[in-house]
Amino acid sequence: MQDNIVFTGMRPTGKLHLGHYLGVIENMVKLQSEYKCYFFIADWHALTTKYDKTENLRQDVIDVASDWLASGVDPEKATIYVQSLIPETAELHIYLSMITPQNWVERDPTLKDMAKILKTKEGIASQINYGLMGYPVLMTADILTFNADFVPVGIDQVAHVELTRDIARRFNNIYNTDFFKETQPLLNNCSLICGLDGNKMGKSFNNDIKIADTAEVTAKKIMSAITDRSRMRKDDPGHPDECEVAYKYWKIFGTKAEVETVRCECEKGLRGCADCKRQLGAKINEKFAEIRDRRKYYEAHPEVVEKILREGSEKARVEAQKVLKEVRNLVKMF
Ligand code: TRP
Repeated sequence: MQDNIVFTGMRPTGKLHLGHYLGVIENMVKLQSEYKCYFFIADWHALTTKYDKTENLRQDVIDVASDWLASGVDPEKATIYVQSLIPETAELHIYLSMITPQNWVERDPTLKDMAKILKTKEGIASQINYGLMGYPVLMTADILTFNADFVPVGIDQVAHVELTRDIARRFNNIYNTDFFKETQPLLNNCSLICGLDGNKMGKSFNNDIKIADTAEVTAKKIMSAITDRSRMRKDDPGHPDECEVAYKYWKIFGTKAEVETVRCECEKGLRGCADCKRQLGAKINEKFAEIRDRRKYYEAHPEVVEKILREGSEKARVEAQKVLKEVRNLVKMF
């Protein structure tokens, strides 16, 4: 167990899918035994784009936490918290916003994408709100509230961790200190699994399998997965390498021997796509059976999830207060 602090978070987007599981959550479960970990749910960040659609926000937070817990994120090992329960982060955000040059946030490459999403959703040329503009500074505040060493993120967020380092360095310079560490990103591999249509797996593309899906729903979804488009009859010889989804999933979820069998039988025309996908669905369901049982428990007991989040947030707050005490002191607050 190392002393280094690992810190990461997710926006509350509701029930998570297998892309999240393979690319992010499995990694969190591993890291929690190796480092001092903070995992948080970014409900303020949700407001940067969905400030006017908050009806499901609380449930979305519970859903993300339930998926984490069911997948093995352990509140005994990692500190799990909700962003808006740590007001220290909002305070730190103020200090950081004072020292962040405007053009540093304007440069943010994800800002344009987010503005585009807002535009298409609302059908109007939307303006960018102050909060959305400052989103990378808020993310910096999240990270520096715990003075983290490492931040696991997807490739799209690496620029933000670089900005975190720039802002930390600037703070250290201005206030003549070495208090803030130079945080490093740890790259998550978010493209491990494609969606059922062969594109990137995503909730909004309607091509995902949720961690919380039942075995029946999963089996049905897998039956819709794209295979080898050139194959007409089930005893035609198949081309696993041109199979757009099913064979790729086999390589993720099957054993080496199983993948070999699938390949041979497919190439010889001994394995129809429907049978192949029936087996594949069963395979995936087997892997997630235990996780889904636990997920059902949390679904039936949201008060347990809430309690874990509130207790984790209290624990996190104690650490956040230590950092903020020092920051206030450095900035010479009254
Ligand atoms: N911006 C991240 C996302 O959209 C979520 C996030 C917010 C985060 N603050 C963070 C991730 C701090 C890591 C560290 O996915």
